[in-house]
Amino acid sequence: MKLVKRVVFVGLIAFVGCGTTPEGWITQPTETNLVIGGLNNLQPYFAKLQSPDRSLPDMGDFLLASCGCGDWRVLIRPTNGAPQVQFPVRFYSNGPYQPTGEVAVFGTDDDKGFSGRLNQDSGQVAGNALNGAMAAYIDGLRSDPHVGQTVDACIMCHVGDDPIFPLPPTHPQKYKTNPRVCLECHSANGQ
Ligand code: HEC
Ligand code: HEC
Repeated sequence: MKLVKRVVFVGLIAFVGCGTTPEGWITQPTETNLVIGGLNNLQPYFAKLQSPDRSLPDMGDFLLASCGCGDWRVLIRPTNGAPQVQFPVRFYSNGPYQPTGEVAVFGTDDDKGFSGRLNQDSGQVAGNALNGAMAAYIDGLRSDPHVGQTVDACIMCHVGDDPIFPLPPTHPQKYKTNPRVCLECHSANGQ
């Protein structure tokens, strides 16, 4: 009897575990051609983290953006108090890369990851994000170049109260009076 109880208990833990981090939530793209250097259009994508069944539409912020380090990166900023995290992602196309049509996005780092699809013509991106025990669905749109949001992405990761990669004290201080100056000295893709 005792043994049976233990087996049930262990089974329950395994089941709950599967419920919070669904197996297969992040999937490798079927496209095999790695897009060297990232997307042609450098505008970032902002979205809300939604629960997998979409019943919770705002579990935090999601950002997919190019970085001055040359990578494209994902930022996951949960509203539940868990620390924000970032990791690089790459794009995959069917055959040689073209700046139009669909591409897959994929990246993992430890217990974090993102897999999704992006339509370069409509600017829509949709996919599955994972941050430890949190699985989330995202559905976003490329930001409008006229609004100048590329620099908002830089600021989200590099400036602010709790930046993910703070600028060193030796960095030119110009951004302290106006943080929107990054692209005066850096490019969005490290070139
Ligand atoms: C999703 C978060 C994120 C965003 C958005 C982002 N960065 Fe970064 N950036 C990083 C991280 C993390 C590093 C450190 C990379 C490393 O060393 O692995 C970095 C590194 C850099 C570096 C140093 C590169 C080097 O080789 O030393 C520069 C410059 C930079 N970023 C500029 C920018 C600019 C400009 C933007 C906006 C166009 C931007 N970043 C957007 C996270 C981000
Ligand atoms: C006036 C020019 C200028 C502006 C404006 C500027 N940077 Fe820089 N940045 C530099 C220079 C120069 C370096 C190299 C400095 C060094 O290595 O100490 C640098 C280095 C960096 C690094 C690498 C730091 C490291 O530890 O390797 C990052 C990240 C970065 N900048 C991000 C940004 C972001 C984000 C902004 C906007 C908020 C910004 N920079 C605005 C000139 C600038």
